Amino acid sequence: MNRPKQDLLGIEPLTKAEIIAILDRADALYATDNAKSDAMAGKTVINLFMEPSTRTRTSFEIAAKRLSADVVNVSESFSSSKKGETLLDTAKNLDAMKPSAIVLRHASAGAPQMLSSAVRARVINAGDGSHEHPTQALLDCGTMRRHAGKIEGLVVTIVGDVMHSRVARSNLFALSKLGATVRVAGPRSLLPPGIEALGAEVFDRVEPAMEGADVVMVLRLQQERMNGGYVPSLRDYSRFFGINARNVRAAKHDAIVMHPGPINRGVELSSDVADGARSVILEQVAYGVSVRMAVLEMLAG
Ligand code: NCD
Repeated sequence: MNRPKQDLLGIEPLTKAEIIAILDRADALYATDNAKSDAMAGKTVINLFMEPSTRTRTSFEIAAKRLSADVVNVSESFSSSKKGETLLDTAKNLDAMKPSAIVLRHASAGAPQMLSSAVRARVINAGDGSHEHPTQALLDCGTMRRHAGKIEGLVVTIVGDVMHSRVARSNLFALSKLGATVRVAGPRSLLPPGIEALGAEVFDRVEPAMEGADVVMVLRLQQERMNGGYVPSLRDYSRFFGINARNVRAAKHDAIVMHPGPINRGVELSSDVADGARSVILEQVAYGVSVRMAVLEMLAG
């Protein structure tokens, strides 16, 4: 993030060293149980969330508060976008109140990029359309590294709606920079054409994609981004691509199962696996606070 204006717009522009620096700092914070510091005392963070969110918004808010920043939450339903104000105008008005950082979630790919050149505050992308979700990929990589001790050489199988998933895209960038092998499995209609060019091996069936995997990352069907029938029915999807106790057995015996949340139980992931011994889903959430503290501290602290 050694750039003239230090924003976090995606993983794609980051170097391997920058990613590792964030993960190292997040590990150190995690080891202290995200102890409160005054790294952002007197500074303000605005969470501008124009799409629903439970985990990410709360996580950024807790992270900023642990750093002693003042936090203001703006959500779509309570913002003047409902009265026809453009995102740019909203952002410029918020920026006039001199926040140190604006954390933006938006349904349109590229929205954080646009804000970046228009505001003085640091811009952090908390998910833009199907484009990127950098802090999610960072917390996913950090969780993998905590379990395996490294990322280089890991086999990571991403299953599900890769096409509409900003989480998958950001992870693909991060994991290939960090030297992991990435496999994607799902119905062809949900795998973006040309994904091999991003470094992924493509599988049409779950079982072969699982063989020898160190990490199984399960994705939700992003129905809010679909118009039309990408899958015949949720039941069919679940039958062929749902992760369950039976098919997960093909992965390594100590493989971990991840999910960015929210889970649609019984669709992409069975409850016994979501709540089972391999699942690190709640650990991802816990580590997410550390990652967001690290990012806020490094950009705006
Ligand atoms: C993801 C998102 O919003 O992109 N969730 C998250 O931030 N933890 C994934 C999803 O919505 O399925």
